[in-house]
Amino acid sequence: MTHLVVTLREQPQHLPAIAEWIHRQWWSETDTPIESISRWLKTHLGESGFPATLVAVLDGEAVGSVSLHETEAEDRPAYRPYLGALFVKPGHRGRGLGQTLVRAVEAHAGDLGHTTIYLNAADATAGLYERLGWQVVEHAYGRKQLNIMQRIIRTAE
Ligand SMILES: CC(C)(COP(=O)(O)OP(=O)(O)OC[C@H]1O[C@@H](n2cnc3c(N)ncnc32)[C@H](O)[C@@H]1OP(=O)(O)O)[C@@H](O)C(=O)NCCC(=O)NCCS
Repeated sequence: MTHLVVTLREQPQHLPAIAEWIHRQWWSETDTPIESISRWLKTHLGESGFPATLVAVLDGEAVGSVSLHETEAEDRPAYRPYLGALFVKPGHRGRGLGQTLVRAVEAHAGDLGHTTIYLNAADATAGLYERLGWQVVEHAYGRKQLNIMQRIIRTAE
């Protein structure tokens, strides 16, 4: 099975499916409606490539996504940009797709000239990123007590 990783800008037809799973996974128990997620994703369609969402596509269907955006730690201005909303559809998990999406977003950030990117992860998912070379830079951040992790993409010249 060959997954293709494309930008949402290249294949915007996947936006509703991605909005739906991001909303269900992270926002369904809040006041944030799915329309807010769709609006956020629409800001990822610009030609600058930032912010961006990358989509894993299999047989024309979106099966996973990950975003690169400004921040998920407003009070830590040094920690930018951020990998966010990594998601693989349940029936497609455990086959390396999550890993592929993380690598793809790292490459995208590198292409944009970033040397370091960040993410927030619960203890349960931090291991996935550690195996991919990410390091925890701050423990127990915020209300949800998350780990802030960083990945150095390349050394600043
Ligand atoms: C996390 C998620 C994206 C992983 O996707 P996936 O396609 O199954 O990931 P991979 O197959 O590339 O797995 C990569 C590694 O992470 C591990 N892993 C996968 N899901 C994990 C999870 N939820 N918690 C901890 N480790 C996990 C795998 O065992 C694998 O380890 P290995 O290489 O030693 O075998 C997927 O489970 C998901 O969408 N979960 C719901 C949303 C979520 O939690 N996102 C992450 C927010 S920080």
